[in-house]
Amino acid sequence: MSLLPIHLLGSPVLRERATEIGDVDDEVRDLVRDLFDTMHADSGIGLAANQVGTARRVAVVHTDEESPVVLIDPVILERDGKTRGEEGCLSIPDIFADVDRSQRVVVETTTLDGERMQFEATDLLARAIQHEIDHLDGILFLDHLSPLKRRMLQQKWRRLRKGQEGYLKHISTPSEIHSRF
Ligand code: NI
Repeated sequence: MSLLPIHLLGSPVLRERATEIGDVDDEVRDLVRDLFDTMHADSGIGLAANQVGTARRVAVVHTDEESPVVLIDPVILERDGKTRGEEGCLSIPDIFADVDRSQRVVVETTTLDGERMQFEATDLLARAIQHEIDHLDGILFLDHLSPLKRRMLQQKWRRLRKGQEGYLKHISTPSEIHSRF
């Protein structure tokens, strides 16, 4: 397994619109596996390829309640309802805010076998999927906040990052996992 460095707020790749995948090959399947490994190692529930420095339309989501979801060239076909809930982002550690999202979405995606399929998601899963698809369009959850709230959190971010260089966070496997086996 490979744990990939995560790009942090300020890294230009987070603002890129990721390019379509089209045919699923082994390179894409490897990327999906690395995204899951990196997300789980960093205790996340979603991770998009932009966040590991690859602007391609691939993301993964895994909430506690639901099976893992692979998103390849995902498109939201339907949205219903509105719900507000707290979000964070592995690319913006220690920053959290309430974000409005659709409560239910119908998503079309390509599977690891290269087939297009549709599924419905609600609540936290729907929220995580919308957050990850935003990443593929270069959009961060901060962009959904009021200008005032956004400025406040950007200031907090600069304080937290003071004295640290670069935009990469290196993930290591938690030591408890080694000691357990
Ligand atoms: Ni994120």
